[in-house]
Amino acid sequence: MPQLTVVTRNGTERTVTGDAGLSLMEVIRDNGFDELLALCGGCCSCATCHVHVDPEFADKLPKMSMDEDDLLDSAGDRDATSRLSCQIPFTDALDGLRVRIAAED
Ligand code: FES
Repeated sequence: MPQLTVVTRNGTERTVTGDAGLSLMEVIRDNGFDELLALCGGCCSCATCHVHVDPEFADKLPKMSMDEDDLLDSAGDRDATSRLSCQIPFTDALDGLRVRIAAED
């Protein structure tokens, strides 16, 4: 199973494994990181699954949709590494990925 390192808002870091085929949001949530609220359940309508993704993996991520882009515009902590984790399928190609949970809006 591919591995994912998650950095929480207080800087704590933990490496977990996740099933390829889930979304990145589901892998984070299922591993007990409850500060990632993911309130809409992955429908791309809340932005509470906002994470900052290691730039080294940028070319392995799916292209951002206009909906995701628009929603991220409403997030206070947006930068060039911002993505909505529910919009990223977790795959073997992302093994070793590191993400940081974005600041709360
Ligand atoms: S869970 Fe709501 S936008 Fe990702």
